[in-house]
Amino acid sequence: MPGPLVSIALALATTAMTAAVGEETDAPKMMGSLSCSSVSCHGGQIDNIARPRPREEYVRWLQDDPHAQARATLQSDRFQTILSRASQRADGKPDPKMQARCNQCHDPVGMAAELTANHNLGHGISCESCHGNAEKWITRHYERDVNRAELLSLGMLDTKNLHTRGKACASCHVGSADQDMNHDMIAAGHPPLRYELTAFHDLIRHKHWDDSPERLQTRDFQVQLWAAGQVAGAQASLELLEARCGSVPERWPEFAEYNCFACHQRFRVSSSLLVAKRDPGRPDWSRWHLTFVESLQAADRSADNDSSLQTLRTIFSETFPPKQSQVLAASAAARRRFNNLTPDESFSAEKLLLTLSTSLSNPTGESDWETRSQQFLALVAAERTYRDELAKAQFFARLGSEEYNRRLTEHESVVADLTLVRTWLQFEGGSAKSVLSDEPQQFHEHRQELGPQLKTIADKMHGRMLLLK
Ligand code: HEC
Ligand code: HEC
Ligand code: HEC
Ligand code: HEC
Repeated sequence: MPGPLVSIALALATTAMTAAVGEETDAPKMMGSLSCSSVSCHGGQIDNIARPRPREEYVRWLQDDPHAQARATLQSDRFQTILSRASQRADGKPDPKMQARCNQCHDPVGMAAELTANHNLGHGISCESCHGNAEKWITRHYERDVNRAELLSLGMLDTKNLHTRGKACASCHVGSADQDMNHDMIAAGHPPLRYELTAFHDLIRHKHWDDSPERLQTRDFQVQLWAAGQVAGAQASLELLEARCGSVPERWPEFAEYNCFACHQRFRVSSSLLVAKRDPGRPDWSRWHLTFVESLQAADRSADNDSSLQTLRTIFSETFPPKQSQVLAASAAARRRFNNLTPDESFSAEKLLLTLSTSLSNPTGESDWETRSQQFLALVAAERTYRDELAKAQFFARLGSEEYNRRLTEHESVVADLTLVRTWLQFEGGSAKSVLSDEPQQFHEHRQELGPQLKTIADKMHGRMLLLK
């Protein structure tokens, strides 16, 4: 049987991405969301909120997309408070340099307005942060004779390609060389960034696009989306790491690189601290963005298995702070290894569940909150996939409706199991935005059960997926 890494094929960087990092002077300009908003273009009225139709994109986006809030957020007390605290000035006023750093992610439109002295553009995040700056394609993309390849060459981003999509989101939701949300900002009140692409799709309640075609046409779509997000998140986090450790020595080590709970803990009278085996001198290098890639590498014994990520983790575990030059070299090597990785269609729910089950049955495997949360989110993606594939099997008459209903009812127990695990991992108040930097109390109480519970769910679902194929 080929190792799981084989199912991740090498792909060439797309023209769109090359264009995105192209010369400053040549780079297409941002036009602003208003240029998409006319009624005959994307500003049509919503017919039925549950069923997205073409041309309603702008109105849907404005009503329901968190990014449409970005403009208002800039003026909010919460934003201004974080900004002032992070500025660390004696007079308590915001530092323009700090504001410019926030704007990279929160106000790309305002930055473009400044750059082009076009103050009609406004502020916040526009369509173009995900679809690519539109200067060169805006007058072309609605013409009859235009094809997709041409639009991509003009700077449109290929959001249908899940890897390209995952990278676009990760540039702000993980960071990049120019976009760094660090521990100073977190200490000032910013929520830590914990990116997972499938969950972030779910969080956009009424998307401005209809995702049923991609879910219908792509086998195990939600798992493919999940895998694309994992690879994109891992790449972005290493890119960010390199930028952080290539900067001025006094900015290193960057605490946001580590597992928060290594340093932040409430005092507890409980045996769970012993289970955690924490070495007070050496915080654990964060696993959030690397859990999946690392478990793939651990499971893959084939010749192309590159251990540079393992080298990097060893460097982090041996010294605090680790030597910048060593980290840079090992990270660059690891990133080169999967810089152009694109999960291909053969990465199925069964493969994911098998990989998960294997790492969950390893008695010395990681059991920290980050790892467990990522494993949980992977199972949620597989669970969504199962329901999609079940519906498809019925739709294409591969499954009678009686059998379909039976399996759907049987599946409810998995949904219930996952719901229970969610309560163990959640922060008090149930908010993902929580800035609480200690592990949830429930997680501590259920720490030992969590692994076996996740493995039971993975195995159950693996069996059901197999029955379906
Ligand atoms: C230009 C940077 C940028 C890009 C690109 C971006 N986001 Fe965001 N995203 C943000 C910011 C900033 C916020 C917070 C907005 C606010 O509250 O003002 C946010 C908020 C969100 C939220 C709400 C989170 C919550 O806790 O409720 C979701 C969901 C989300 N983004 C998903 C995505 C997805 C999916 C993509 C890619 C298709 C993406 N984002 C691309 C910057 C970005
Ligand atoms: C690397 C990109 C990035 C940078 C830099 C950044 N942010 Fe954010 N910010 C985000 C994203 C992404 C979210 C949405 C987080 C989520 O819900 O997962 C967010 C959320 C927020 C929120 C909403 C939090 C809430 O709980 O509602 C505020 C306010 C905020 N950021 C302020 C700031 C300020 C002030 C700065 C500069 C000091 C800053 N951000 C720098 C990406 C960034
Ligand atoms: C946070 C990222 C993000 C933002 C911001 C965003 N989109 Fe999208 N958009 C997507 C994703 C992801 C898809 C689904 C993939 C696809 O169909 O290309 C999509 C799909 C679309 C589609 C359907 C394309 C097709 O071929 O079916 C249109 C049209 C569109 N968006 C227009 C807009 C407009 C107009 C805005 C601004 C008002 C906007 N988008 C803002 C991410 C974004
Ligand atoms: C290496 C140890 C270390 C790590 C890892 C670390 N922190 Fe901190 N954190 C500190 C120290 C020391 C302070 C106080 C000094 C300061 O504000 O920077 C602090 C301050 C804070 C504060 C403000 C404290 C308060 O009571 O107001 C928050 C919130 C915070 N950290 C959250 C986090 C989160 C979230 C993470 C993970 C992304 C994290 N920290 C990772 C050491 C750490």
